[in-house]
Amino acid sequence: GGGDAEKRGALIVLEGLDRSGKSSQCRALASFLRGRGESVEEWRFPDRTTAIGQMISSYLSQASELDDSAVHLLFAANRWEKRSLMESTLRKGITLLIDRYSYSGVAFSAAKGLDFQWCRTPETGLPAADLVLYLDIDPEVAASRGEYGLERYEKVDFQRRVATYYQAMRDSTWQTVDANQSVDEVQEALREAAVSVIQSCKSGAELLRLW
Ligand code: TMP
Ligand code: MG
Repeated sequence: GGGDAEKRGALIVLEGLDRSGKSSQCRALASFLRGRGESVEEWRFPDRTTAIGQMISSYLSQASELDDSAVHLLFAANRWEKRSLMESTLRKGITLLIDRYSYSGVAFSAAKGLDFQWCRTPETGLPAADLVLYLDIDPEVAASRGEYGLERYEKVDFQRRVATYYQAMRDSTWQTVDANQSVDEVQEALREAAVSVIQSCKSGAELLRLW
């Protein structure tokens, strides 16, 4: 354990069904943490800006078709292409707040009928989240939110299956927050958990790998 590890940033992931409020909560949490003097970057997966990300984006907007297994591997590759930047950013002491990660990768593909264990394999070796904040929302409530249904996976029955696979992945790094509450109540719950994990990463908690 050198000095670097003692100052690393935390890898914090927000997960949840489509329209669970992740993106706005991520933004609010980032500005809260910056207000406390933390260095924070906001990331998201899929990262639609890369060549792989553009293939994924076209697939999600239903402009193109891809084999289920092929698109699963593209989502994973989209994380691998960011792996070294993720690690070097954390080592600089910057906390990453990431909107979706490998847990989305597994839950959405398994919900299509792909084998759960097979889905986990291409994620193996990626940095593991120090904290997963799972925004737990009723799929019917999510579906009533603006612009629902535009992208490929935004269907209530499908989202219900996604939720069951998320539950199957829960481990000690997960905290579930009731996302049926008001925006402010959800934010309050996220803040406490984030502050505490950032502290434990500063005190030397090791960056682990999936899975
Ligand atoms: P977004 O709405 O957060 O941009 O995510 C787009 C969709 O892609 C969303 O329905 C979740 C899905 N998804 C996967 O199927 N696999 C993945 O690895 C990720 C990150 C997202
Ligand atoms: Mg979306």
